Amino acid sequence: MSFDIKKLVRPNIEKLKPYSSAKDEFSGEAKILLDANENSLGSPLTTWYNRYPDPMQMKIKDKLSFIKKVPATQIFIGNGSDECIDLLYRSFCEPGKDNVIICPPTYGMYEVSANINNVEIRTAPLLPDFQLNMAHIEQLVDAQTKIIWICSPNNPTGNSLHVLDIEMVLNNFNGLVVVDEAYINFSQQKSFIQSLVDYPNLVVLQTLSKAWGLAGLRIGICFANEPVIEYLNKVKPPYNINIASQQLAIKALEEVGQVNDMIQHLVEMREALAEVLLSMPGILQVYPSDTNFLLVKVQNATQLYQYLLTQGIVVRDRSNVEFCEDCLRITIGTESENTHLVDAIAQWLGITPDNA
Ligand SMILES: Cc1ncc(COP(=O)(O)O)c(C=O)c1O
Repeated sequence: MSFDIKKLVRPNIEKLKPYSSAKDEFSGEAKILLDANENSLGSPLTTWYNRYPDPMQMKIKDKLSFIKKVPATQIFIGNGSDECIDLLYRSFCEPGKDNVIICPPTYGMYEVSANINNVEIRTAPLLPDFQLNMAHIEQLVDAQTKIIWICSPNNPTGNSLHVLDIEMVLNNFNGLVVVDEAYINFSQQKSFIQSLVDYPNLVVLQTLSKAWGLAGLRIGICFANEPVIEYLNKVKPPYNINIASQQLAIKALEEVGQVNDMIQHLVEMREALAEVLLSMPGILQVYPSDTNFLLVKVQNATQLYQYLLTQGIVVRDRSNVEFCEDCLRITIGTESENTHLVDAIAQWLGITPDNA
């Protein structure tokens, strides 16, 4: 493999002189800050937020570096992983010229972001066992292929992809291989972040939205080698993570123990819910899950979806997604939410929850 980041990056991004904010030019302690046209009087609401946030989010990166054992220089923070996905397109894919490979059914934003950025999408659908179709991926790659998107554990199928397949792609593809690990904390599988030393083309996405329970803060994390991170830093909006989110994320990252307990609880509830659903006549399949959701095949999934709505329960109808026909994707709720869900499904099936 001959990986050359200079051949990968968009020429205009290589040449780009990034915006230099007041905070970039001075980041020390000062008595009087008159450099950024902020409102020095504060706000009638609170005096906490009148200053711009740290553009590089160093305190979050230091905490993550400690937890994840990855140097802070190999970490980029996005406004959700969704921003990282968009910035990867904007940094590395020339609109109307380059292409990327996605492996559906998978997370929808790889495709939407490609369309927004006018980047060609080539699809290598997963095999019936929801694993990568390696031969198909190989067939699709050409000189203009910049990114292969791999989601593991995958949304919406819930399974982890074979490590050896991912390594095969990393070893043989000269572009970026993005491994989206949004759900990795719910899986037994090892994260790829410790493999950054082996693969200059590896990008790993994680997020505080799932296991950390902070979807509302919009904190996505991109791990990659420094050259990739430097381009993302060049392209990102100057203050992409607001002060409130930064402060809360820093606090949350001190609670690793509590988060691990919560992950274990969610995994236990996932297994319990899978067992109950599987025992119900009319539930055709509950796919194995390494995530905080279950993909469930049921006769007339859309009808069940509509029925659940009438009961005030919203799940995700995936029945129009290829390979997920008649499937609902159900997020693991609280104990009582899961009970309500089971009761409602039993009602729809015409059985009593007791014999469910
Ligand atoms: C696989 C995957 N990646 C990324 C995201 C988005 O994460 P974030 O909330 O960090 O933007 C999701 C959200 O559902 C997801 O399923």
